Amino acid sequence: ASTAATSVSISGDISSQLHGGYAHPLARSWQAERQLTKSMLIYPLFVSDNDDEEVLIPSLPNQYRRGINRLVPFLEPLVHKGLRSVILFGVPLKPGTKDALGTAADDPEGPVIRSIRLLRQRFPQLYITVDVCLCEYTSHGHCGILRDDGSLNNQLSVDRISDVALAYAKAGAHCVAPSDMNDGRIRAIKLKLIEEGIVHRVTLMSYAAKFSGCLYGPFRDAADSCPSFGDRKCYQLPPGGRGLARRAIVRDINEGADIIMVKPASQYLDIISDAKELGKDLPVAAYQVSGEFAMIHAAAKAGVFDLKAMAFEATEGILRAGATIIISYFVPEFLDWLST
Ligand code: PBG
Ligand code: ZN
Repeated sequence: ASTAATSVSISGDISSQLHGGYAHPLARSWQAERQLTKSMLIYPLFVSDNDDEEVLIPSLPNQYRRGINRLVPFLEPLVHKGLRSVILFGVPLKPGTKDALGTAADDPEGPVIRSIRLLRQRFPQLYITVDVCLCEYTSHGHCGILRDDGSLNNQLSVDRISDVALAYAKAGAHCVAPSDMNDGRIRAIKLKLIEEGIVHRVTLMSYAAKFSGCLYGPFRDAADSCPSFGDRKCYQLPPGGRGLARRAIVRDINEGADIIMVKPASQYLDIISDAKELGKDLPVAAYQVSGEFAMIHAAAKAGVFDLKAMAFEATEGILRAGATIIISYFVPEFLDWLST
């Protein structure tokens, strides 16, 4: 029997009342496990061997390929606004630079190694990540050294790619990030870093779960790295391959990766979440790739949504899935947006 005359009559179910928890903007921000911060962001830079050039990449909105002489003036204001990290991609354009072995990838006078040295010197606080692959440097545009039948020779490719990674690390890269997808390259790079006595100062970020698909087109325009025949389906993962991605993530953790990356990002949020679960003791990075970026721009231009709103929504989805490092072409905008 009810005896409390003062008891409030509750007609609804208490647990159904959620609005109070997010009525205020601050309370809404508390609902997220992780807040986007500037230190989570890595900005991709395309550095060509044409020292003075600054060329807009038509398929990659507002993004430029730059020669080394354009880097410092471009980066100065961004560093001032809080840019913490870049990832470098070398783009050899001079005729005769590409060959079957990707020889130019670790040319000490090439744009990447010169840029590492320059940026280390000019921006001592900037964290320099360098993409490691051969596709920009090979005449055939594939991410390694080929057999006569056109397939990747895994052993030769791993030997070569680990040499290239070592050269970037020795030039001063804080982080080397192999994107080639040859089996066993993480272990090979780690061993060479140990042998060279620099493993303690170099982060090894694996493009562990990198899927093949149609989202890298603008990047290949920018980096001039489109394969001259065939595709990358026999080394990049098939889009349905969740189990394969999990195996690749576990493998690369066991081979010595310090950071695991998933790429593309928004189309593969389940894989990001798997990476976080499998690699709960290491940071997970996600690469919001060129096609994702171009798609958001195109839709915003078509009036589907506001660019900034979508940039935040996509990025917050990537964070929510489990990534705490985000490689994105939106970084310059975020440096402004996150200040206000
Ligand atoms: C090179 C590489 C690619 C990307 C990063 N490193 C292209 C590819 O694998 O074809 C894609 C990045 C992007 O689309 O923004 N191996
Ligand atoms: Zn490649």
